[in-house]
Amino acid sequence: MSGHAGEHHGDEATLRLGTGAADLARAADLLTAGLLVGLPTETVYGLAVRADDPDAVARLYAAKGRPADNPLIVHVASVAGLEAVTTHLTPLAVRLLEHFAPGPLTVVLEAHPDLPSIVTAGLGTVAVRIPDHPVALEVLRRCGLPLAAPSANRSGRPSPTCAAHVHDDLDGRIAAVVDGGATRLGLESTVVDARGPAPVILREGAVSREDLIGFDVRTLPDLHATPSGPTGPTAPTAPHAPGTRHPHYIPGLPLHVAAAGSGAATARALLAERGEGSGTAGRIGLVTCGDPGADLDGLGPAIELLATPSDADALAAELFALLRRAEGHGLAALVIEAVPEDGIGRAVMDRIRRAAQAPQFP
Ligand code: TXA
Ligand code: MG
Repeated sequence: MSGHAGEHHGDEATLRLGTGAADLARAADLLTAGLLVGLPTETVYGLAVRADDPDAVARLYAAKGRPADNPLIVHVASVAGLEAVTTHLTPLAVRLLEHFAPGPLTVVLEAHPDLPSIVTAGLGTVAVRIPDHPVALEVLRRCGLPLAAPSANRSGRPSPTCAAHVHDDLDGRIAAVVDGGATRLGLESTVVDARGPAPVILREGAVSREDLIGFDVRTLPDLHATPSGPTGPTAPTAPHAPGTRHPHYIPGLPLHVAAAGSGAATARALLAERGEGSGTAGRIGLVTCGDPGADLDGLGPAIELLATPSDADALAAELFALLRRAEGHGLAALVIEAVPEDGIGRAVMDRIRRAAQAPQFP
């Protein structure tokens, strides 16, 4: 690679790496040199950068087009690695990590004074997690550094669940992407504030509220008392991660949310609105969940059944890829059926609603 580590602009194609030892060593070397590397985790692909280098982190914000007020999640390989990112490891955080790490739970703690403020967007707190993926863990161990890693999409786009998505969004803007195949969970980690006596959910994610309640009822009086509903921690007045304020998961076509079982009817109504026979440009994509039933019979060529995930977990794994795939099909709109808002369904519906409300790309 030519030039200074900080000069990776759009003129060089992004290197595609595999998961063999030599390629992971290369990824670790690039990261150590302050470059940006896409890495698979169990949730979504992350765009990693060494967290101790403010200039490198600034290049990451630029590559993603990320607003400066949206802090990054720092990834470490073990609980011992947390020492570099926080001086206040709370008893609650220890217990949460004992139970959920490595895995898709991110804890927010007081930031270590040495951590560059660009990582935390000046909040004074740091979000940190231990990813449950052999590639991410191996690269973290080889670097021996905490790695900041937001989802590896252009800011506002659906999160990437395979290396091709990273490439589509960031080719030429990052040094490399490690192709570890499709991610297992497909939805981002749950972010909880772990500074107090009980976790406060700041972003719904792959660890459900029920998982958090179930792990130890005694330590979680607040969550346990308000498992759901308008007074629960996801009520509009509840605290949110800064990133949840920004438009997110923007698909390249309008998205409509239909009630469970009424996706086909919603798609038909949209077609009727647009006028019959408007050709390929007028076709509607449809995603149903669970048993599609007789309502799908005779959909006709104007409605394209894109996927029929069996349950909310399956939809979670497929959702972001589906949003991207629908863009490539020349569809006028996409209809997705809602799933029940419990377990992973809460995070799935959070992402679908955000995608449906987001302004469309031209
Ligand atoms: O699963 C994941 O979490 C993936 C993988 C790559 O680890 N990462 C991810 O990062 O989704 P990102 O940047 O797309 O989302 C991070 C979220 C944002 O909503 C951000 O505002 C929030 O975490 N966050 C980061 N630091 C925070 C802090 N100190 N306090 C509150 N929220 C924070
Ligand atoms: Mg993101």
